[in-house]
Amino acid sequence: MDPAEILMVEEDMVGSYADHVAATSTRDVYVNEHLHSGFRDILEDIRPGKSIVDIACGSGTLLQALSKKECTVAGFDLSPGAVEMSRSKGLDVVQGNADQFDTDPILVELFARNPDIIIFSKCLVYLARKSDIFRSFKGDSIYVYQSNPGYWRRRLFANNRDILFDEVIYRSSQEKIISIDDLGSLRRWGESFGYTSCVLTSWPILKKNVVVRFDRDTYRKL
Ligand SMILES: C[S@@+](CC[C@H](N)C(=O)[O-])C[C@H]1O[C@@H](n2cnc3c(N)ncnc32)[C@H](O)[C@@H]1O
Repeated sequence: MDPAEILMVEEDMVGSYADHVAATSTRDVYVNEHLHSGFRDILEDIRPGKSIVDIACGSGTLLQALSKKECTVAGFDLSPGAVEMSRSKGLDVVQGNADQFDTDPILVELFARNPDIIIFSKCLVYLARKSDIFRSFKGDSIYVYQSNPGYWRRRLFANNRDILFDEVIYRSSQEKIISIDDLGSLRRWGESFGYTSCVLTSWPILKKNVVVRFDRDTYRKL
């Protein structure tokens, strides 16, 4: 695919600031200060040597940064353009639909590698079967980076709520529909699958985006 075409797909389908920088800058964009703060929070938290699958990894910006921390990284995305871009960076990325994580043989193989960590960065809201992935994951931790339902503007002004949170259905492990209207409810949703959670973003009420880590086992440190 022509790089200009990839860039178009990239901007249409991926659209995060870091990916835009990655696609347009000739500088080394993978040093930390060029990554947006959520990526930095995740990078700082993950120890070297972990195996990681980035779900809906986009153009692979986060994976590439993690690979420089000597982590074993792999990912997948629905968008062929994003996959091509990730692969052009030498990343182990395949095309796949997260909602078919347990039926598409390529994704089944990816999860059968038993990653320590899976990441949902700016994608949880698109995925109909996110609960099933939470339920079936056997590794240590899940990182969720997304719009912060507890952001002060969202809390104060009902008309400034994030439409994605209003429309997306989150079901608990008991199939109860959970309304994600603050950070606590997002954490309770993940915890219903047997995880503990912690917020990695400092002063989360002031931040539009937030990183939450869900841990499978409270006694096993990352
Ligand atoms: C906002 S982008 C985030 C990309 C990247 N994770 C990041 O943080 O920069 C959302 C990504 O989700 C992907 N996506 C949406 N639905 C998907 C699905 N069902 N399975 C896999 N990827 C999906 C899109 O192709 C897009 O790359």
